[in-house]
Amino acid sequence: TVELNQALLALDWLLGTWESDEPGEGNFPSIKPFHYIETLNFSHVGQPVINFTFNAFHAETKKPMHRECGFIRMQPGTNRVAFIIAQNSGLVEIEEGDLTGQQLNLQSQAVARTSFAREPYVQKISRVIQLRSDGRLEQSVSMATDNQPLMQHLHITYRRSS
Ligand code: HEM
Repeated sequence: TVELNQALLALDWLLGTWESDEPGEGNFPSIKPFHYIETLNFSHVGQPVINFTFNAFHAETKKPMHRECGFIRMQPGTNRVAFIIAQNSGLVEIEEGDLTGQQLNLQSQAVARTSFAREPYVQKISRVIQLRSDGRLEQSVSMATDNQPLMQHLHITYRRSS
């Protein structure tokens, strides 16, 4: 086992696998509210980078749904964090923000998509990922599209499974 690169010590609380404890809630003004389950994994190979995968599934049928993967980097000597993210929908994004205690507040700095992506296009994403005092991880994701201002799309909590 490789030691966590010291550039990322402040994010050691993320490492491992997390499973939604109860179904997450999905919402947006233009869609039908839905529930989903999700598994997160954060790992590293000793580089100053955390590798992650977020895999969501239908709450009843367990059919695979949204998937994201990417990398997390920190600006050395600061609390500045960057998520470099690819989504199965064809969206890629850079999110940046600050780590405060065990809470990450991220905003998209760049969003790009395939030439044949469906409209409405995502224009902005913001998310909060935090370790709560009860040991659960919590994630909220908001987005703005061509048609809607920044509004919550997802809220979910997880329990550590390994
Ligand atoms: C709908 C973006 C994560 C499930 C949508 C829409 C967008 C979007 C743009 C269409 C909204 C509209 O028509 O006005 C995103 C982004 C995500 C994300 C940027 C991550 C940052 C997820 C996750 C799930 C999910 C994790 C979990 C299963 C859905 C569902 C719909 C939807 C069920 C409605 C049906 C559909 O249009 O496919 N999302 N989404 N999304 N999203 Fe997400």
